[in-house]
Amino acid sequence: MEDVKIVGFLCNWCCYAGADLAGVSRFQYPPTIRIIRVMCSGRVDPVIILDAFLYGADGVFVGGCHPGDCHYLQGNYYAEKKIEVTRRLLKEAGVEPKRLRLEWVSASEGERFSKVMKEFSEEIKAFGPVRFEPEALEAACLAAADYRLRIVATKARELLEMGNKYGEVFTRHELDRLLADMVREEYEAKRILVKLKAPKSVKEIASELNLKPNIVLRHIMDLKRSELVALHELRDHTPVYIAQKRGEGGVIE
Ligand code: FES
Repeated sequence: MEDVKIVGFLCNWCCYAGADLAGVSRFQYPPTIRIIRVMCSGRVDPVIILDAFLYGADGVFVGGCHPGDCHYLQGNYYAEKKIEVTRRLLKEAGVEPKRLRLEWVSASEGERFSKVMKEFSEEIKAFGPVRFEPEALEAACLAAADYRLRIVATKARELLEMGNKYGEVFTRHELDRLLADMVREEYEAKRILVKLKAPKSVKEIASELNLKPNIVLRHIMDLKRSELVALHELRDHTPVYIAQKRGEGGVIE
């Protein structure tokens, strides 16, 4: 079996203390995991998780406090939705969503921490080193940074319990469908944006990404309105577009 690398983001108050207890109590866990301490699982941004894959992680583990125990009250509920969005984006990018795992581990569960890590490490070893098309994962990272996906991910609980500003309360099924549609739309748009690092026509992108030309055109018009894409030239009367260079946190250098 090939060696794999796992990055673990552990909440300071519970899971990190659980990992510490595992060490002190000599409950072993595989050296494949590199731990990063965070203050709350809700702080682990989807972009950071996707970046970890982009820079060589074969699996990512996020560990937080049990529901109801988060020191910041709702952090682990946000984490749950963020992980769901990230898993959907991984799937769109052709990466197995199970390479990302979320678990609740308390400070007193050292033995459980070691068991979960052994299990996850075996699972990732069975998958082997992660493989992906860099452009696809880059598009997933850009989609994860989009404010619309962030809002739905953080407001999910509110939409289920109190509804939107018009008082419409969502069922779980409706929310799932909304999230699935938004992830697909955002991913498609960002996939096109990444393709447009080099000038291309609608037809060229449609054939490269196997999308319908009218869908590509709709996304390009939206990207143009957001000033992420501009008209580059007319090639035999056909418009050719190009992505606009943006600074840090924007896009595409
Ligand atoms: Fe541990 Fe929020 S403080 S999950």
